[in-house]
Amino acid sequence: MSTEAGAGAQTFRIGLLGHGTVGAAFETLLEQRAEHVAAITGLRPQISGVLTRSRGDFDEILAGCDLVVELIGGIEPARDYVLRAMRAGRHVVTANKQLLSQHGEELWGAAREHGVQLRFEAAVAGVVPVIRVLQESLAGAHVDRVHGIVNGTTNYILSEMARTGCSYADALADAQRLGYAEADPTEDVNGKDAAAKMAIIARLAFDTPVHIDQVTYEGIELITADDMEYAHELGLGLKLIGTAERIDGKLAVRVHPAFLYSGHPLASVHGPFNAVTVESEAITEITMSGPGAGGPQTASAVLGDVISAMIPPASTPETTQALEIIHDVESSFYLHMEVADRPGVLAQVALVLGEHGASIKSVVQKGLGERARLVMVVHPVLESQFFAAVEEIAGLDFLRSRPRAIRVIDEEFV
Ligand SMILES: NC(=O)c1ccc[n+]([C@@H]2O[C@H](COP(=O)([O-])OP(=O)(O)OC[C@H]3O[C@@H](n4cnc5c(N)ncnc54)[C@H](OP(=O)(O)O)[C@@H]3O)[C@@H](O)[C@H]2O)c1
Repeated sequence: MSTEAGAGAQTFRIGLLGHGTVGAAFETLLEQRAEHVAAITGLRPQISGVLTRSRGDFDEILAGCDLVVELIGGIEPARDYVLRAMRAGRHVVTANKQLLSQHGEELWGAAREHGVQLRFEAAVAGVVPVIRVLQESLAGAHVDRVHGIVNGTTNYILSEMARTGCSYADALADAQRLGYAEADPTEDVNGKDAAAKMAIIARLAFDTPVHIDQVTYEGIELITADDMEYAHELGLGLKLIGTAERIDGKLAVRVHPAFLYSGHPLASVHGPFNAVTVESEAITEITMSGPGAGGPQTASAVLGDVISAMIPPASTPETTQALEIIHDVESSFYLHMEVADRPGVLAQVALVLGEHGASIKSVVQKGLGERARLVMVVHPVLESQFFAAVEEIAGLDFLRSRPRAIRVIDEEFV
């Protein structure tokens, strides 16, 4: 902190790394909110240096600041700058999910070692205060499960497919036109972006180190308008869902498309919004939702972290558990089959499912001849058993194409 000659006000100096969508929005927001921040913290925040690829020098910025805001993204040089800042005794605020999901333990360890704060609310679900709630409000809860819609691009695409009946490709093009999807949307649509966020959420909710490589993920690229239509008849809506859950003392973290019945709190989260549901015996269920991205929205979460760092303390403690991470879990499934239009088909599918421990919850049979479809929801069964049944069904002579299977989250909260 420094006292500005003449002004007489104590300033809190912020070194800003990155001045793109979020960095520029953060600078604007800080100018607008500086008075307010000064009123609540007693210190006036000010940007003391900016680093981009063409502007600024990291060592000079570090020497002249009290806190570093990292909004470059990616692994290097962001990792190096964040580590150097903490080693120099600076608090760090970042929105970088890639960095935390791959190097989180190293960074949190450095924060503890050097007695500084590393805050990252904006790295997960944009402005939705998931991190703060898990770290502080629910610190005493024994969390059993977290479900999240943590990628706004895919939620927009799926919402549009459901609303208009359009194809995946058309909904993606629409998302790109409206700025909800990047020019290269690969990591959004294949589930990797959501997997990074779920790794961070799982680390905090279950007090266990989780690397993104331990998160199983599937994307939404193969979802068809047909799936949406049939699912609608079964009372289901489709979302890209991240799940982290405690199962028999172990931990499963995954991201995949999943159907939800309308009573589930995440079923009504549409468009580019994000939402996270935390379940625990003591609290039943808490759902938080809001904008998952966007410059001004993300900047607001970053500023919240800056203010928190100005009023100490908060740190991410060392993990005290190391739950074994598992991948084969029980799920309910939607199964879509294009079948020959002849008697006995349903009975044979039911038989194969039954032999693998799966039973049918509801069925829709539609179309005649070449259009004949058999669509069903299957009660929860171990995924490995279900997929073994699907393989066997795929080999039956009345199947006209490969069956499609999508998980169903068969729960409602009242
Ligand atoms: N955009 C969102 O809605 C959103 C939402 C949540 C979280 N985030 C996270 O926020 C972070 C920033 O995202 P963004 O959308 O603002 O990114 P962006 O628009 O691409 O901006 C990145 C900034 O970092 C600078 N930069 C890149 N490489 C650099 C290097 N080697 N050295 C110094 N500066 C470098 C760029 O410099 P130049 O100006 O010279 O190119 C640019 O100013 C990322 O971690 C992202 O995941 C973004």
